[in-house]
Amino acid sequence: MSQIIEYSEKVMDHFSNPRNVGEIENASGVGTVGNAKCGDIMRIYLDIDENQYIRDCKFKTFGCGAAVATSSIATEMIKGKTVNEALKLTNKAVQEALGGLPPVKVHCSLLAEEAVHAALWDYAKKNHLEIEGLKPPVDDIDETEQFYEMAGEV
Ligand code: FES
Repeated sequence: MSQIIEYSEKVMDHFSNPRNVGEIENASGVGTVGNAKCGDIMRIYLDIDENQYIRDCKFKTFGCGAAVATSSIATEMIKGKTVNEALKLTNKAVQEALGGLPPVKVHCSLLAEEAVHAALWDYAKKNHLEIEGLKPPVDDIDETEQFYEMAGEV
């Protein structure tokens, strides 16, 4: 018997009317991450100006409704921010901005955090920059999730 999952109004809003869907041609940075367990994939595109401000941000997500909502709100949260501010985006902040996520969907917010970081990593690599605190992206978010679970951080 399946269980019905309850979502906040904010999640439903971002799922039904996602912001910043699409691609950016010649993006300053592109990050793609996936979770092998659920099969969801998220890609974030960043357009960053010469002062390291995120001018534009788009996403494409092949995944569940919560993953669409987390990528949508994550793009809103980092648009207009600096690279360093975007780097501080956490999955917890994404969850809070959405009014919470059901426990089985918490990993979807991790995908958003990691996709933003992966796009920043790509930007740094293309521009030969070293950004303090920026770590190389992981291919499968499931491994990161297990790490965070062990640390009690999700
Ligand atoms: Fe895996 Fe949503 S179920 S990202």
